Amino acid sequence: MAQPATSDLSRKPAPAILTLSAIIAAFLIWLIYFKGRVAGPEWISILPAVNAVCNSLSAICLIFGYINIRRYNRVVHQRFMLSATAFSAIFLVSYITYHYFHGDTKFPGHGIVRPIYFFILITHISLSMVALPLILGTLWWALRSEFRFHKKIARWTFPVWLYVSVTGVIVFFMLRAYTA
Ligand code: HEM
Repeated sequence: MAQPATSDLSRKPAPAILTLSAIIAAFLIWLIYFKGRVAGPEWISILPAVNAVCNSLSAICLIFGYINIRRYNRVVHQRFMLSATAFSAIFLVSYITYHYFHGDTKFPGHGIVRPIYFFILITHISLSMVALPLILGTLWWALRSEFRFHKKIARWTFPVWLYVSVTGVIVFFMLRAYTA
């Protein structure tokens, strides 16, 4: 008997997810490193703090989401994970708005703190590019109630996303400490 027809996208979301993630990553690299600065309104200076708050809230939701699934509280797990996604989405909008005007921020620190800062920054940026397709894939399988696939991919998504959120906050405070 032939299997019921299912679209390629619903069976194999990876090409669509990877393409979308690559487009967003390429756009961000262009925005931050190539576009150049333009004069912006004064309120954009608060956006790095908004980004840090969103990253912190995302990290807190991820931790509570994880604790809850370990306790088999599926509904609470779902709520926390969707909240983490919402905070990360707000972060992304705020981050793009800030970098539309500002470009990258140079780190002025010297000595041992400099390699520490760049280690955190480089791992943060590289893993954020990995996190995006992982998050989309994890949500995809969860929202289709394919929890076997969800669980497999989520075991990678959770630590990578948490690392990216927490290091985003660390980078913010390191920049504040040395540029204030
Ligand atoms: C992108 C956000 C999400 C992340 C990072 C995430 C993370 C995880 C992790 C790490 C596990 C495995 C825990 C373990 O090792 O035992 C898990 C399991 C689970 N998640 Fe999520 N989750 C997310 C979103 C969701 C959503 C939106 C739902 C509901 C629609 C959901 C429902 C479940 C269920 C039912 C399980 C248990 C699967 C099983 O044990 O068979 N998750 N999730």
